Amino acid sequence: MRGFRSKPSQSSKFSRSSLLLVFALALPLLLSACGSSSLHTPLNPQSDAGHTVDRLWWIMFGMSVVIEGLVAGVVIVALVRFRRKPGDPEPVQITGNTRLEIAWTIAPAMVLVVLLVLTLTTMVNISEPKGTTMRITATGQQWWWEFDYQGMNIVTGNEMHIPVGENVHIDLRSKDVIHGFWVPVLNGKRDVIPGHNNQLWFRADNPGTFRGECTEFCGAEHANMNFIVVAQPRAEFDAWVKQQQAPPVSDQTGLAAEGRDLVQGAKLDANGNLVSCIACHMIDGTNLKAKVGPNLTHVGSRQYIAAGTVPNDTDNLIRWIHNTQDVKPDNKMVFLNSQGSPYLLDDDTVRKIVAYLQSLK
Ligand code: CUA
Repeated sequence: MRGFRSKPSQSSKFSRSSLLLVFALALPLLLSACGSSSLHTPLNPQSDAGHTVDRLWWIMFGMSVVIEGLVAGVVIVALVRFRRKPGDPEPVQITGNTRLEIAWTIAPAMVLVVLLVLTLTTMVNISEPKGTTMRITATGQQWWWEFDYQGMNIVTGNEMHIPVGENVHIDLRSKDVIHGFWVPVLNGKRDVIPGHNNQLWFRADNPGTFRGECTEFCGAEHANMNFIVVAQPRAEFDAWVKQQQAPPVSDQTGLAAEGRDLVQGAKLDANGNLVSCIACHMIDGTNLKAKVGPNLTHVGSRQYIAAGTVPNDTDNLIRWIHNTQDVKPDNKMVFLNSQGSPYLLDDDTVRKIVAYLQSLK
């Protein structure tokens, strides 16, 4: 310490560089608060269960701040008041203080008991809804989500619509490995385990579009296994249900009609490659009945493709159908010939297929 005192210029240099360091470390944190992703944290709860989790978080945070303040305060007082000064005699040597040690063992244990009780209460509160309006089966698979509205004849991919102010129960299923279902603003995350029926519920407070994601490492495209939840007022939700339950529009003309014939007829493109959508996909009211890939019945009305990662517009759809591996490497949609080698469809064919898909609203 003597070195710092004898040269004030060094001391100010030291504090300036440490200030800069603190600023540099804090900057990413500050900037991260500016992004739209800050809307999608558990600290911006948009549901009944979300508020319950948020409340617990703030209680824990408050307790941590108080405890940290106490501990840091005691350390600082000890450092400042009891610092050894030049010429001080050797301090009294003690072996311990039983009463003090019992006290500082019991005090943290009591804090932990309080936190345990609060956590268990919260877990019970958010695990069971009080009356459920609808049940949706969410099936995680590499690397997308299927949402099946039980008893409603609606199956969507990576986009869940729910009515505001009503309890929605989610049954979580996995087709392959362990995934994690998490909509940060709506409820805590829950593992999606093959052969184990986990569940979750939430009741959205307000209309909005909320991001969801897979939170369990599940392979190459884990980071691109996202989805959205669209919370809508009851009337708007009912209109969406009606639209989803109706067959997709059947009056395709022009490019869309040519695309329809290629897709439904499983025809060959200009290079003799098979338009094999029929092998994996389902479109209600057509001869496409496979359940390997997402249900495409109303794909034209969805906001994203590629599991919530790419906006559903013409350019992206063309890129996707042309070569999905360019958009989302390692995803499982590949055109394979009888020798098992991948092939790409020609540009004209891709444009027609895209026009058809966009007409499926
Ligand atoms: Cu599915 Cu990570």
